[in-house]
Amino acid sequence: MRISGSLNVTPQQRQALLLLVAFTLGFVFTAGSINRGAAQSMAPMRPGYAGDASCSNCHRKEALSYLHTAHRLTSQLPTLESVRGSFAAGANVLTIVAPNNASGEPSLQFRMDHEAGHFYETAITGFDTQLERQRESIDIVTGSGKRGQTYLYWQGDQLFELPVSYWAAGRRWINSPGYDDGTANFSRAIYPACMECHASYLRPLSDAPDSNRFDRASFEPGIGCETCHGPGAKHVALETEHVAHRSKLGSEVATADILNPAKFSRDRQIDLCALCHHGIEREPLAPAFSYVPGEPLSKYFRPIETAAVEHPDVHGNQVGLLERSRCFRESSNMTCSTCHDTHAPERTAASYSERCLSCHRWQACPESKHIGIGIKTRCIDCHMPIEPTKVIVSTTAGAEVHATMRNHWIKVYPTSSRP
Ligand code: HEC
Ligand code: HEC
Ligand code: HEC
Ligand code: HEC
Ligand code: HEC
Ligand code: HEC
Ligand code: HEC
Repeated sequence: MRISGSLNVTPQQRQALLLLVAFTLGFVFTAGSINRGAAQSMAPMRPGYAGDASCSNCHRKEALSYLHTAHRLTSQLPTLESVRGSFAAGANVLTIVAPNNASGEPSLQFRMDHEAGHFYETAITGFDTQLERQRESIDIVTGSGKRGQTYLYWQGDQLFELPVSYWAAGRRWINSPGYDDGTANFSRAIYPACMECHASYLRPLSDAPDSNRFDRASFEPGIGCETCHGPGAKHVALETEHVAHRSKLGSEVATADILNPAKFSRDRQIDLCALCHHGIEREPLAPAFSYVPGEPLSKYFRPIETAAVEHPDVHGNQVGLLERSRCFRESSNMTCSTCHDTHAPERTAASYSERCLSCHRWQACPESKHIGIGIKTRCIDCHMPIEPTKVIVSTTAGAEVHATMRNHWIKVYPTSSRP
């Protein structure tokens, strides 16, 4: 399946395409021309945006802890540190033996290596005398590596996914999620939606949601402060001037001109997180990276109705699940911030149970009669169980690996009673 930037698609075709945004299958072994001319550093600023470095001058507390969050690290340029997979001899290969290959000889091997600051994935197919190779560089790292990482490469201004990903469980190389075991597929295009959820900015060269052409130089890795607080250049200018004035006049003039989600209505607060945590079954109504926090998300996306409502199990749908919970429906103030502080790395799982106790007494749970006060640190074990997802799945050398997720539908689960 080949998708070009500006083709005429019917709404049905478009829907099908969007459903496949993150999971498009392609089977073509492309060689293509390689152009790595353009530099990736020093992105030109978007008008109105100031960049994280400027915020850290004054908001030291938020800025320092934010550096270590999964949001900040969800896309990076490749370095020996940012690429979590191993390049050590022996650990840098992924060998696939086709299940129907009686000789047991490998039919496909991937090798990951680095040379002079550049990182590569090489696919080697065929046997002894007739080996075919394709080698592409790791140009962008997606995923903090908490669960895993997927790597992307440039071909001119087109962005593609690489066939081998890293999986944190077992610290190993795997076939990229959704890829056919035993194939070397370098042709899966990366659409703007992918980067809108995983980076501060990468300017698409077309408004078409199915174009993989970008302005490479505009790449700003990681989710930044202004993704959630909106463009901040004016705030920075005002506050900087204010600091200068204050020392002169000793006055306290209220300034701001920056968005604080705490001041949004609950719906708009949820919308901000839903930009990226409501799954991918939706049709964009506006170009990627145009969302401004505080605006209704319905102006930017139309949900695609699907049958999977009982268990909406997509690439990250905490919003859809939480909204089904009675806690959410029957309280007026529960938001994602009730439990999460997006400025700091996640805390221990047990500490989340404290958040339940801001609304429930531990004695309200009938199980407390059997467990006693120790139940206070265990609420989420039973009411927000960890489950494998059917969405982030890799089939590697015949075996399936699934990511596990915390189910955000807070309720009584049939399996959650005492053993
Ligand atoms: C020169 C210092 C300075 C810089 C630079 C700065 N801020 Fe601020 N910021 C402040 C001060 C002081 C306040 C409190 C202002 C007030 O409430 O009147 C503030 C308030 C805020 C608030 C709360 C606003 C509200 O309405 O409650 C947010 C959010 C914020 N800043 C985010 C940012 C972000 C994001 C950046 C970087 C783009 C940034 N700031 C850069 C000094 C700064
Ligand atoms: C621009 C997209 C985007 C927005 C907006 C966003 N997130 Fe995320 N969030 C992500 C991505 C991508 C990840 C996965 C990061 C990774 O591990 O690579 C993530 C991860 C997380 C995690 C897991 C952190 C961890 O350490 O495992 C939490 C919790 C979270 N987000 C909460 C929120 C909340 C709450 C909001 C709203 C205030 C929000 N996010 C807004 C994209 C976003
Ligand atoms: C994933 C979204 C997200 C990102 C990224 C983010 N923030 Fe926030 N920020 C929020 C939310 C949500 C609130 C409101 C929290 C609440 O409800 O108490 C907030 C509140 C704030 C406030 C007001 C705090 C207060 O006590 O009133 C400041 C200042 C701030 N953020 C600065 C920053 C800076 C600086 C960065 C980057 C280093 C940053 N934020 C990155 C979501 C985000
Ligand atoms: C609608 C937003 C969205 C889109 C589109 C999206 N992702 Fe994600 N991605 C997330 C969120 C949110 C997470 C955090 C885990 C979760 O909740 O599913 C995540 C997790 C990941 C992880 C695992 C990170 C870790 O270490 O835990 C990788 C790798 C990843 N995404 C890569 C991609 C790639 C590559 C694409 C495009 C082909 C893509 N994602 C498209 C939102 C998105
Ligand atoms: C913002 C307040 C709030 C928070 C925080 C909260 N809940 Fe609730 N929860 C409610 C309300 C309101 C109801 C519905 C009335 C009732 O049962 O008390 C409810 C209902 C429930 C129910 C019954 C669900 C059903 O389907 O019948 C369970 C179980 C529950 N909560 C567990 C938890 C757990 C566990 C946590 C922490 C992970 C939590 N709640 C956090 C407000 C909250
Ligand atoms: C009642 C508390 C609560 C609320 C509200 C809540 N979460 Fe969570 N969240 C948790 C717990 C508990 C975990 C698991 C933490 C762990 O295991 O370390 C978690 C984990 C996550 C993760 C990491 C991936 C995963 O599923 O394990 C993401 C992403 C996330 N939450 C996003 C959100 C978003 C977005 C919202 C708002 C729609 C939200 N959460 C609201 C309690 C909450
Ligand atoms: C060992 C598993 C387990 C743990 C731990 C647990 N619960 Fe429960 N909870 C249950 C089960 C099972 C039910 C349903 C019991 C019934 O209907 O008799 C329940 C019911 C509830 C209800 C609904 C009560 C009602 O009257 O409808 C609430 C609210 C609740 N739990 C909150 C909590 C809170 C808060 C915590 C942490 C302090 C917690 N639970 C810890 C298993 C657990």
